[in-house]
Amino acid sequence: MTSLPNHIAIIMDGNGRWAKARRLPRTAGHKKGVEATKKIVTHAGEIGLPYLTLYAFSTENWARPVDEINDLMALLRFYLKSETAELLKNNVRLRVIGRRDRLSKDIIDMIENIEEKSKDNTGLNLSICLDYGGREEILNAVNTAIKNGHAVTEEAFSQYLYTFDIPDPDLLIRTSGEYRISNFLLWQCTYSELYFSDILWPDFTADEFDNAIQSYNQRERRFGGIDKKESKA
Ligand code: IPE
Ligand code: IPE
Ligand code: MG
Repeated sequence: MTSLPNHIAIIMDGNGRWAKARRLPRTAGHKKGVEATKKIVTHAGEIGLPYLTLYAFSTENWARPVDEINDLMALLRFYLKSETAELLKNNVRLRVIGRRDRLSKDIIDMIENIEEKSKDNTGLNLSICLDYGGREEILNAVNTAIKNGHAVTEEAFSQYLYTFDIPDPDLLIRTSGEYRISNFLLWQCTYSELYFSDILWPDFTADEFDNAIQSYNQRERRFGGIDKKESKA
């Protein structure tokens, strides 16, 4: 029997290459990527996954051409506007994780609106990582802890992260055949199982998502200990 991870995080990568392979502008890849995102969010809700965290825009992605950044922000606006009703209907609780101070006011308002409206929902906990960087998150947490004069134990420190009320990912998926973390959830992925897929994000499907869960089910998680059977022997 397949058991479901509690939390799956995804580095949704490969939109640009998907577009390039079709001689389309990069934005076409991002648009198609949004479609793939919608399908995976629906699927995750349907199978009863408790937590899904998606890497949408990194602190380093500001280095991209301004036109691409504007297109990505426009797509985000479109996603939030067109999906709010559907997410609420499906009992999804949405959180947006990352820096807020570099986002435009109308986007912040939309985010706050849907976070507030969905805060009591009990279905899928969907987190979208936007202007998110693992190092920035850690430094922000350290500085807040210092300001509060708090001793920095592992537990106390975790409470200062953007993910303070979200468990660590059990499974981290990266698409598009890249084998790196790219500043995603550095603290939280300490013992996550990793799954790399060659599929470009716009082509990612519910079946491939389920393959990742199947693979996760074959893993033995030891957390630095030893095999459970061995420890009983
Ligand atoms: C992921 O796709 C989306 C974002 C990082 C915003 P990319 O845009 O990185 O696509 P590739 O890696 O260039 O193919
Ligand atoms: C990681 O993808 C960030 C997101 C998916 C949002 P990138 O495309 O930015 O990562 P690198 O530059 O290939 O490492
Ligand atoms: Mg990329």
